[in-house]
Amino acid sequence: MNTTGTPDLSAFWMPFTANRHFKHHPHLIVRGEGAYYTLQDGRRVFDCLSGLWCTPLGHGRAEIASAVSAQLAELDFAPTFQVGHPKAFELAGRIARWAPPGLNRVFFANSGSEAVDSALKIALAYHQARGEARRVRIIGRERAYHGVGIGGISAGGIAVNRRTFGALASPFVDHLPHTHDPAQMRFSRGQPAWGAHLADVLERLVALHDASTIAAVIVEPMQGSTGVIVPPVGYLERLREICTRHGIVLIFDEVITGFGRLGANFAAQQLNVTPDMIVFAKAVTNGCVPLGGVIVEQRLHDALMQGPEQMIELFHGYTYSGHPVACAAGLATLDVMEREGLIGRARDLAPVLEQEVHALRDEPHVADIRNIGLAAAIDLTPRQGAPGARARAAFEQGIEAGLLLRFTGDTLAVAPPFVSTEDEVRQMIERLRGVLRRIE
Ligand SMILES: Cc1ncc(COP(=O)(O)O)c(C=O)c1O
Repeated sequence: MNTTGTPDLSAFWMPFTANRHFKHHPHLIVRGEGAYYTLQDGRRVFDCLSGLWCTPLGHGRAEIASAVSAQLAELDFAPTFQVGHPKAFELAGRIARWAPPGLNRVFFANSGSEAVDSALKIALAYHQARGEARRVRIIGRERAYHGVGIGGISAGGIAVNRRTFGALASPFVDHLPHTHDPAQMRFSRGQPAWGAHLADVLERLVALHDASTIAAVIVEPMQGSTGVIVPPVGYLERLREICTRHGIVLIFDEVITGFGRLGANFAAQQLNVTPDMIVFAKAVTNGCVPLGGVIVEQRLHDALMQGPEQMIELFHGYTYSGHPVACAAGLATLDVMEREGLIGRARDLAPVLEQEVHALRDEPHVADIRNIGLAAAIDLTPRQGAPGARARAAFEQGIEAGLLLRFTGDTLAVAPPFVSTEDEVRQMIERLRGVLRRIE
């Protein structure tokens, strides 16, 4: 610690961060309260992306803190290999009741990445159990982010994430095209009308590889990390139909969209398309304790429940699958969401965000704006020869203006906490307008 209270920054190798830049220009967050963070220098900033899409309930929820603290006092850790503890079963049942009908078996992991890899393994194991062991290929999508596990980078479509680690990735993958074409959908509100036909590329991939080699298709219903790419009207329906016709498992990665972001429990319900598995993480504990998992359709689960009863059915799991403290945090989070009707609130705030954010279209540097549910993205025209520099400038100016923005490349994303007021959403966009006018 130096005299300003800043710790020595050298030892922590920060994830997905320009470490040298950060350590020369650090921003340390020291408190969280409601929809705001407090920085080390005392400034309060509005949490425009709910942590990293993690904290829809806002920060400092006493209900979650006391559930976690009570759990630590009562049962801090118990294995879930060959024994169990009540809260893991209770939370699994609760999540199943939030999910679309038929998806009622829950496998726990500790992060989105682990949950994605678990879902891919379950898909392979399901086909093997049915005597279709050749079905090992996974179809992902360009620009997809499915975390950083080996399965996730294989199925993922963010080039920089694949470039370095491609050698570790599965060779049994292929990718659908992404659906963002600014010429067709610039400034569209909600689901773009153009693009459903891009799902038909799946038919071509089936023809190329043969359905008998394809285990699963995995997509984020709304591509979050790459900048809120919204599925065209009819697109997910068509993927569903093609997967069903060819016996391919359809996985929705709802790490960002799960637990209310689009205005229903899951995107599956909001968009009225039911996959065979849903991957979740982040908001399930309001970001308080790491937890992720997969909600699996009972038919897939039951296909694996064969052979002698004393045999392990799925050779997969994590020491911390269903950790008691994570489960206590999850139960408390879902309690608060239900009691305060927060998903309804996200649904009510969505048109306010849509209206306000699209009013930025004539501001300097704005190339495109997209939105769905309580999420939106603004593409900025990159500075010549310096990709990402303009969005970074907006990020820095945002802090001056009392906003903690999130940028990737030259895209700014916003997804405010569900507890925000209409005024706070309006003020966020007004401040952003000022930021856009101030940056070069
Ligand atoms: C859709 C999606 N899947 C998976 C992940 C990976 O989650 P984690 O960082 O918890 O491993 C993310 C993270 O943002 C995500 O957005």
